[in-house]
Amino acid sequence: MSLSKQDFDYVRGVVRDKAAIVLDDSKEYLVELRLSNLASMQGLPGVTELIRDVRDNGNRPLADLMVEAMTTNETSFFRDGLPFDAMRESILPELLQARAEQRSLKIWCAAASTGQESYSLAMLVRQCLQGTPDWDIRILGTDISPEVLTRAESGVYSQHEVSRGVPAESLVTEFQREGLDWVVRDDLKTMCEFRRMNLVGSWSGLPTFDVIFLRNVLIYFDTDVRRKILERAKRHLAPDGYLFLGGSETLLGLDLDQDFTRVLLGSASAYQVTT
Ligand SMILES: C[S@@+](CC[C@H](N)C(=O)[O-])C[C@H]1O[C@@H](n2cnc3c(N)ncnc32)[C@H](O)[C@@H]1O
Repeated sequence: MSLSKQDFDYVRGVVRDKAAIVLDDSKEYLVELRLSNLASMQGLPGVTELIRDVRDNGNRPLADLMVEAMTTNETSFFRDGLPFDAMRESILPELLQARAEQRSLKIWCAAASTGQESYSLAMLVRQCLQGTPDWDIRILGTDISPEVLTRAESGVYSQHEVSRGVPAESLVTEFQREGLDWVVRDDLKTMCEFRRMNLVGSWSGLPTFDVIFLRNVLIYFDTDVRRKILERAKRHLAPDGYLFLGGSETLLGLDLDQDFTRVLLGSASAYQVTT
């Protein structure tokens, strides 16, 4: 192991300050691996030089890349299935009826990664609307990592990526082939916007949403940060809106029982603001 304890502590301090991501002792190997890759991409001899450039020269763009390198961007279309079943079977029909007058629906993917979650939701909304015109559908995808957002915006996915979750019939109707890749069709893209946002930074300008997907990101934060993010999310959730967390994420132990009520939707569960 060439990463010194001092350097490891410095890196985890930066990552925690900038993104609230907690790197415990078991992540030492991961830090070294990912920073080695970053160092070689930057044309630097190694991790030590990379850290020195950030610490001693105050290279802020490199510090941001260092944080970005420590994010885990794993995602897939219709990941974990059940929340999307709940959206299709109950939530979208309910909300589309409740919003029939204003004909507007806002969904937020608060850790959008490379965009599969946003486009999965866009496919469901389009299927539920069945061509009904004049709905203003906004699906906002935010993430701390500019790199994943650039990929999300492009809407370009490999065969391997689409084979992880896109049903065969949707592949034909919602994507077009471009060489070896698949590109999301424009009518899905127009529903989706991607924007850089740090969940522990400013939330200014964020509207109220009908549905919030805040999935598989709270696991990287400590209890206090999780609670604060959920308290903020509550202020951006419509009174009849729904919040989804990841399969291994829960409000248990966060002292938010007064704030949210858990609702069962088939085999899925979501949260609503307690009234
Ligand atoms: C594992 S992915 C989850 C993607 C998607 N929500 C899903 O469940 O498939 C976690 C994402 O959270 C983002 N992330 C980590 N820390 C963040 C922060 N402080 N603010 C915003 N996004 C963050 C990472 O860049 C990464 O793309």
